[in-house]
Amino acid sequence: MSVLTPIEARSCLPVVGSDTLVPLVDGRTVPYANLDCAASAPALLAVAERVTATLPLYASVHRGAGYLSQVSTALYEASRQTIGAFVGARTDDVTVVTRNTTDALNLLAGCVPADADGRAGRVLVLDVEHHANLLPWQRSAGGATVLIGADSVAHTLDALRAELARAPYALLALTGASNVTGEYLPVADVVALAHEAGARVVLDGAQLVPHRRFSLAATGVDYIAYSGHKTYAPFGAGALVGRRDWLDAGTPYLAGGGAVRQVDLDSVSWGTAPARHEAGSPNVIGAVALAAACDALAALPAGTLEAHEAFLRERLVSGLESIDGIEVVRAWADAVDPVGVVTFSVVGHDPGLVAAYLSAEHGIGVRDGRFCAHPLLARLGYSAGAVRASVGVGTTHDEVDRLISALEIYLSEGPSAAYEIVDVCWTVTGDPRPLPEGSGLSGLIATAAAGFIAAAAGCGPAEQ
Ligand SMILES: Cc1ncc(COP(=O)(O)O)c(C=O)c1O
Repeated sequence: MSVLTPIEARSCLPVVGSDTLVPLVDGRTVPYANLDCAASAPALLAVAERVTATLPLYASVHRGAGYLSQVSTALYEASRQTIGAFVGARTDDVTVVTRNTTDALNLLAGCVPADADGRAGRVLVLDVEHHANLLPWQRSAGGATVLIGADSVAHTLDALRAELARAPYALLALTGASNVTGEYLPVADVVALAHEAGARVVLDGAQLVPHRRFSLAATGVDYIAYSGHKTYAPFGAGALVGRRDWLDAGTPYLAGGGAVRQVDLDSVSWGTAPARHEAGSPNVIGAVALAAACDALAALPAGTLEAHEAFLRERLVSGLESIDGIEVVRAWADAVDPVGVVTFSVVGHDPGLVAAYLSAEHGIGVRDGRFCAHPLLARLGYSAGAVRASVGVGTTHDEVDRLISALEIYLSEGPSAAYEIVDVCWTVTGDPRPLPEGSGLSGLIATAAAGFIAAAAGCGPAEQ
């Protein structure tokens, strides 16, 4: 094997939990290989340190005259600046602190304006989207047109151009990077064709912002939404950043304190953005954590993140493709430089079983199911789900290699433990793995999660 460069050989930023040991079914413990960063990424050490330093200063935000209330308010507003600046906010853009990407896109869905004739603004989306960038538009006032993506970037751009010419749209809502394949459309082309047709562009940045440097100002994208918990800051904050006019005029996202100028018993005067959409006590710790992650990522030398991830993705994809019986899922044959999110199918094997085996026998965390992208998985022929491995700044080549060799063993020898479906979730029969000491847990996590999913959705994990 070739000698690794420093970027390739180690993680590019330290994360909390990189040395956490997890139990295997055979009684051994191994370091957890977290190859599920696309779902939720581990906290950066810098984030944990900033949060720990902030907690003694924590007090009410926007509401108190006390010294620490003023400090907390300043921390919250400074964090807002950083969170916006990290995605290249223009000087007149607004940064709304949200819970996550889903929250941000739902918020924007309430702000899409009507056209000059009073017709509610319509939104154009592709069928490749995560449900968070599909459902809010479908139930917005003007509704959405869902365009079936073509099999190449070039054909998809052609289809978008044709649809934008056919009908008026207020907004084109597009993934910044697919949470299934890591692929994306060239943003400059998308912005040019949308703006030419008079439509604005919102990017679902959930899988873009943690993986690539991005700038609203440089690209001309109108809005971007992203999640702290996918950007190494799992403290409950995300963001919507973009043009002020829609956000100042749109329906206040939550009705309540902080979003208003004046309330009388029969009338309300709402504030402008961002306060207009941030009713209730703000999540100052979440905002501070996300700002700390932005600072740490922004401080990386240019190209470091991309080089680290390109190396890991290439190692992952070539390893998967070297195994007979594994198919890597792709939406666009000509996609360039996808982010480190790779979905694959172990042909003829239940993805839930494969994921349970990787966890129980190798201490590897991956995601299985349909990744909240049901229409795309159906179109690509994976309605029964697939397995997804995703990398981040803390991932090492060793973790990728562990996944590849575990899959080779699975296909050559099969699993060593017995597995069964309990509450619609694949689990080890009589799972002997102990729960972490001090966790306060008294029951098995997987079963509890499956029970929740089944109760909420009336269906199995593949529904997620
Ligand atoms: C592309 C994409 N968009 C939106 C979301 C929703 O993000 P969140 O759950 O943080 O709201 C996800 C989550 O996996 C995603 O991958």
